[in-house]
This record gives sequence, structure tokens and C-alpha cells, in this order.
Amino acid sequence: MSAGAAAGAAGRTLLPASVLLMALELLVLAMPAAAGSGFRCRPGSRPVLFNFGDSNSDTGGMAAARGWHLTRPEGRAFFPRPTGRFCDGRLTIDFLCESLNISYLSPFLKALGSNYTSGANFASAGAATQPRDVPFALHIQVQEFLYFRDRSLELIDQGLSGPIDAQGFQNALYMIDIGQNDVNARLSNLPYDQVVAKFPPILAEIKDAVQTLYSNGSRNFWIHGTGALGCLPQKLAIPRKNDSDLDQYGCLKTYNRAAVAFNAALSSLCDQLSAQMKDATIVYTDLFPIKYDLVANHTKYGEQTKICSLSFPTVYSHTESDNSETLGHSLD
Ligand SMILES: *[C@@H]1O[C@H](CO)[C@@H](O)[C@H](O)[C@H]1NC(C)=O
Ligand SMILES: *[C@@H]1O[C@H](CO)[C@@H](O)[C@H](O)[C@H]1NC(C)=O
Ligand SMILES: *[C@@H]1O[C@H](CO)[C@@H](O)[C@H](O)[C@H]1NC(C)=O
Ligand SMILES: *[C@@H]1O[C@H](CO)[C@@H](O)[C@H](O)[C@H]1NC(C)=O
Ligand SMILES: *[C@@H]1O[C@H](CO)[C@@H](O)[C@H](O)[C@H]1NC(C)=O
Repeated sequence: MSAGAAAGAAGRTLLPASVLLMALELLVLAMPAAAGSGFRCRPGSRPVLFNFGDSNSDTGGMAAARGWHLTRPEGRAFFPRPTGRFCDGRLTIDFLCESLNISYLSPFLKALGSNYTSGANFASAGAATQPRDVPFALHIQVQEFLYFRDRSLELIDQGLSGPIDAQGFQNALYMIDIGQNDVNARLSNLPYDQVVAKFPPILAEIKDAVQTLYSNGSRNFWIHGTGALGCLPQKLAIPRKNDSDLDQYGCLKTYNRAAVAFNAALSSLCDQLSAQMKDATIVYTDLFPIKYDLVANHTKYGEQTKICSLSFPTVYSHTESDNSETLGHSLD
């Protein structure tokens, strides 16, 4: 099924986290009741989440892996210190965990202070689908998951405590939010038509990730489309010849067109996978209208400036408010 249309329409009046939760409810409703499985269906059990992606959902994985000490303004709007998120506050996935009453998802590679009883986060800032064999491409993130799963089950087999048991893996929600870096990298040196022609191998990697997870027992998937790439401060800060490619909200039209085209292709892929995997639930959510609305209607969400960002001065600078958390994400 595709929840994109519903979530997109609701994005105009609700905050993004609420919109995503709506999509989650659709996912829960879509679970085959008779199967006796499904997200949060076991009485008394906690939901389990596994997340794959880039900095849109990296809760500190890349910083831990590279030994990066991020500095303020990262984290200042909420935690209130840098946490390894490339954001001044919480990410969408953090709001999701709060709504599910589970702790924030621990990065797989964060050795100290992590707690994997609610799942693990494999998302890594800067990650793409291609090339597939480099840290921390989607393919590598899936391999990390398989390692995590085998290790957890092995510990349980040995009578030790593993964070997630076999049923936990089967009932878990598997989230994927990736593609932004692939699309952006191509847009920076190719004309639009050639960029769109490069989508199939990116989508093939996402398909491969879902199929690998499925063949290893995953059944509940939530795939996120990419955001309004043409509104990213990182892109707007690149010097350009003139402003003819800017739309009425000051976003780059070509980047946004590419994001919309990518999402349309990703949505079709999800339909195709749903048709093939009859006992799986695959929900696709189009994040483009949600994120574009955040920029276009920024004042409605309490933002004075259009876009905030951590590393670009002047027009793209930060504002401090609760909503800058969801807007504030700026690196990829
Ligand atoms: C989370 O906890 C609150 C307060 O205890 C409760 O109202 C809400 O239903 C819980 N949400 C979920 C998804 O369990
Ligand atoms: C890990 O998280 C779970 C659920 O959020 C909690 O019940 C448990 O106490 C935590 N374990 C540690 C060691 O903090
Ligand atoms: C799990 O995925 C791996 C990697 O694709 C694959 O080699 C393996 O056969 C899968 N396991 C099962 C039980 O299908
Ligand atoms: C603006 O720049 C684009 C190329 O980036 C060019 O095609 C177009 O003709 C320019 N428009 C004006 C008015 O100079
Ligand atoms: C901004 O909000 C208005 C009113 O809610 C809505 O009609 C419009 O579509 C929104 N703009 C975008 C780009 O989402």
C-alpha cells in the first residue's frame, strides 16, 4: 500500500512527526491480523525499530564511527548538547520513538551508553546507496543489521542476554530513508535528464535491501521518500550564475523536480515489492510535500527565517525555537 497521498495531504496542517505517526498507524492497521504478528501486537512487548539511512535519521552513528566531536549549534535546541545528530535538536525518528514510549534508537556503532532493547539505528550521515560496498552505504548497513541479528540470537542461544529475540526481529519495523545523497551527488554535475536516467541503480539498491531483509525474516517496512532537496541550505549556498532556477520560496526548482521524480519512482518500487511480498507490509511515505510545506509555510511552524542550518552564515543561519529541530537538519 502507499500512504504517501494521505500523509502528503495531512502535511499541510500537522507537524511532520504527527504526519509520520499517521503513516505508522496506517502501517499498524495494515498488518495482517490473522498472522498473529505485526508491530506492537504482542501484549506487553515494546515496539522494536531498525532504521537505515543518512543524516536525516542518524542519531549519532557516523560521529561514533569516525570519532567526530560535533559542536554547537548541534543539539542545542533540545538535548541541549551535541549528540552526534546533524541537527540542532531532535530528528523525526526521535519524535517517533517518543510517541511510541521507547528510548531513542541507539546507533549500532556507538559503543558506550547504547541500549538496543528497542532496536538499532544503522543510519549514517552522508550515506548513499552507491557505491554499495563502502562504509556506510545502504548495503553495508543491511550487512551490519544481519551481523547484529546473528549476534543477538547467538547470545540468546548461549543462554546470555541478547537485546532482541527471534520474534522481536520478525515483528520489528524496518525503516529506510535514503537516496538524498545519491540524487544530490548526481545533480551537482549532470543535467536533469541525465540525473533521472541514473535513478534505476539507486532504486535497485533499495529493492535489494528490502529483499535481503525480507529473506531474512523482516516483514514490516516503512520506506521514506526524499525531501525537498532544492530547499537545502547546503545547495542554496553553492554560488550560482543567476537566480532563474529559484521558485517563489527561494528553493532550487531543478533539485526539487528531481526529488519529486525520485519519489514517484520509489513509490512505484514499493507497490511492486508489496505485490511480490504478499505476507509483508510495505508503507511508502512521500516526505517531499511535508518538508516543502515546512519551508514554504515556515512562519506557521514558528520559524522566522526560511531555513536554518549549522554551517552557513547570513540568510541561512539558525533560529532558536522548538520547530527549528525538525527544520534544522542541514547536512546530508
Ligand atoms: C505512551 O504513554 C502515554 C502516557 O503513559 C500513553 O498515553 C500513550 O498511549 C502511550 N503510547 C503508546 C504508543 O503506547
Ligand atoms: C534499556 O531500555 C529499556 C527500554 O527503553 C529499559 O527498560 C531498560 O531499563 C534499559 N536498560 C538499561 C541498561 O538502561
Ligand atoms: C539473509 O541475507 C543474506 C544476505 O543476502 C543471505 O545470504 C542469506 O541467505 C539470508 N538468510 C536467509 C535465511 O535467507
Ligand atoms: C541563468 O543561468 C542559466 C544557467 O545556469 C542560463 O541558462 C540562463 O540563460 C541564465 N539566465 C539569465 C537571465 O542570465
Ligand atoms: C502552505 O500552506 C497552505 C495553507 O495551509 C497550503 O495551501 C499550501 O499548499 C502550503 N504550501 C506548500 C508548498 O506546502
